[in-house]
Amino acid sequence: MTMPEQSLPRIGMLYLDHVLRFFDKSNFKGWPDKIEQVVYHWGNDKQRFIDEVKRKKINVLIGNVPATAYETFREIARALPEVRFIPTLDSQFCNKSKENVTHFCHKYQLPIPKTKIFYQVEEALAYINDTQYPKIVKRSYGPSNYGGYFVHKIDSAEEAVRLFSEKRYYPAYIQDFVPMKADIRVMLVGHQPVCAFWRRPPEGEWLTNTSQGGSMDYQNVPEEVLELAVRASKAANAEYWACDIAVSTDDEYTILECATAFAAFPYIRDWIGQYLMWLLAPQRFDKPYFAHKNWEELGKIDSSLLRTMRHISFGQASHSTDTGEYAPADEQYSLLETRHVRGEEWPSEAWNFQDMHRLSGVNPYNRNEHGAVGNGQTQTQINQPDSFLDTGIEDHQEVTVADHHSLPGAVSESKLEVQPEPDAGHLPEPEQLVAFFQSVKGIGNVLSQEIVDTLGVSGVLYALEHEPQQLTAFRNLKQKKLEAILRCWEDHELVC
Ligand SMILES: Nc1ncnc2c1ncn2[C@@H]1O[C@H](COP(=O)(O)OP(=O)(O)O)[C@@H](O)[C@H]1O
Ligand SMILES: [Mg+2]
Repeated sequence: MTMPEQSLPRIGMLYLDHVLRFFDKSNFKGWPDKIEQVVYHWGNDKQRFIDEVKRKKINVLIGNVPATAYETFREIARALPEVRFIPTLDSQFCNKSKENVTHFCHKYQLPIPKTKIFYQVEEALAYINDTQYPKIVKRSYGPSNYGGYFVHKIDSAEEAVRLFSEKRYYPAYIQDFVPMKADIRVMLVGHQPVCAFWRRPPEGEWLTNTSQGGSMDYQNVPEEVLELAVRASKAANAEYWACDIAVSTDDEYTILECATAFAAFPYIRDWIGQYLMWLLAPQRFDKPYFAHKNWEELGKIDSSLLRTMRHISFGQASHSTDTGEYAPADEQYSLLETRHVRGEEWPSEAWNFQDMHRLSGVNPYNRNEHGAVGNGQTQTQINQPDSFLDTGIEDHQEVTVADHHSLPGAVSESKLEVQPEPDAGHLPEPEQLVAFFQSVKGIGNVLSQEIVDTLGVSGVLYALEHEPQQLTAFRNLKQKKLEAILRCWEDHELVC
């Protein structure tokens, strides 16, 4: 029987310059029509982008928006009410900042470590002086996170004040420290867990980020953890989703991070593509089937091979299987249809606290000569450029950008960190890298040194070659300066 031809929605891939593409059109294998692309160029590109989407008559725009472009894309989505964004900007709310993850979990009563967020320095100081330690302090807003570099364990009020006066993180994001065995990353498609693994900290350490030397394994992820991840995915109404869940020494589970932007093997992106094709054209595509706990077996395959495997599919065993090992009633997590919701759940007028609280020019965290903590009063304010609070938002110093196009070294949009694999060949000396950064217009000595000190030689090289967006996690180093760095790096003669 031939199906009557029905017209399909016109799909466009949402891309941004210098941001690694999570989806490729090959993830949508079998989609019969042309898949369009719309690329956002950083800077003042909103209207041109909107016009291009209209001109191409795109109905569905698919892709993640990095944190630094999140608010712009909320505006773009408003200007294109007929276009369906997948995921919606509401589903991507958590991609913007740790603060947003916290608001999201509070709203949906999802368990997180107790967290306080302060925009008023006096309130932060009062809390710091009055609370129990250890605490965890995190930078809330970074365009992309570099596994734990901006997360600090703090043992006293003095240490907290010292940290805030040095790092100037703003807002102050202060969380109870959870003694942890490990944490678990769960990835979901259509609210069904499709991959999950433990990340264990190195012996005697507390950070579980694998980029910090931790280990991973795919076996025996507790059901409660999968259930919690499903609840979060449903709350976000996310077509695809990842959650990092802490497992405390008392086996309590709390969400540390969640987002639609995460590092995923290509076969997982294929699964998302298959799912989305079915969502958008159920008359043309079968609902995909993902075997439950497939990760326990796929995870045995060497990751170098998993990284290349594509279009893995499962046949669904039926009742009549003669091996009799399959009982459909065992199935706990089914692939669900996400509903398409119009309207805004997290309008920026109500939730963009960062832009409502832009402070200027001063570092009010008090530190007297004894390292003692201020008594809730802001004290003398140091008036030098270095004392700006770190809002994660670039200052107004302009760096001329000649050409926005086609810089090499695409970057990942992942909010949840990926594992760096620095090439351990011939590494340059740290001083050479510092000198390189100093040679870039708009990058000062202090920042140059800070980048190299923080990331180390291999971390810097990894960032420049594979994850440039991570450099924008440094204070006052945002898109324009990043582009200047990448242009210089392209021309650079530093032989490694
Ligand atoms: N409240 C906490 N208590 C104990 N450890 C934490 C806490 N929050 C984060 N960590 C540890 O720090 C790591 C990094 O924190 P996370 O919030 O994931 O930031 P990012 O990955 O963006 O650097 C986590 O993987 C976990 O090992
Ligand atoms: Mg993390």
